[in-house]
Amino acid sequence: MSACLIAPSILSADFARLGAEVDAVLQAGADWVHFDVMDNHYVPNLTIGPMVCEALRRHGVTAPIDVHLMVKPVDRIVPDFAQAGATYISFHPEASEHVHRTIQLIRSHGCRPGLVLNPATPVEVLDYLLDELDLVLLMSVNPGFGGQAFIPSALDKLRRVRERIAASGRDIRLEIDGGVKPDNIGAIAAAGADTFVAGSAIFNAPDYAAVIAKMRAEVAA
Ligand code: DX5
Ligand code: ZN
Repeated sequence: MSACLIAPSILSADFARLGAEVDAVLQAGADWVHFDVMDNHYVPNLTIGPMVCEALRRHGVTAPIDVHLMVKPVDRIVPDFAQAGATYISFHPEASEHVHRTIQLIRSHGCRPGLVLNPATPVEVLDYLLDELDLVLLMSVNPGFGGQAFIPSALDKLRRVRERIAASGRDIRLEIDGGVKPDNIGAIAAAGADTFVAGSAIFNAPDYAAVIAKMRAEVAA
């Protein structure tokens, strides 16, 4: 399995100091910037869009930006995020009329496509799509808010998706998002995740480097 990657969700950052917050988590050892995009339509919350992504790039962020779209429709915002410097663009199949076409659209704009599975979305949605994907993002909370509790059934789902990725023979990252903390990340890694989103666990901690180091240690244990 590929190296463990830590992707802090800036949803829990101090938006009034976003550039400094992103610099701080990257300096503290984070690998990716997880960028939650909510539209008050597909999910009941409203956050940030391509202008903020572009602003982070202009600020000097060179780390991968992992855009998690919780928007409907999906396709018309994809070119804007590609232009704004997104690395990965992931979306929910429920929000796209033609899922395969959206994946191709993301790749055609030079970004890496990911598919997001909600807690109630069956893993079979990956049938006929896995060969097109660079990332599968499993939600371990219902999308819309940071700070929710990890849903335990995500562990079994991780194992099932990991089996499918192994069978595909492709290099596809398996990312988990929602309620990830130092005290459950070990079990999450053992179930097959290799990329870990954490919002409140990192940004609510007094020392970003310490909590990220603790997470890595738990994954390696
Ligand atoms: C929820 C978002 C998550 C969220 C994670 O819809 O996709 O990325 O910010 O926050 P925590 O780690 O606090 O559950
Ligand atoms: Zn997210």
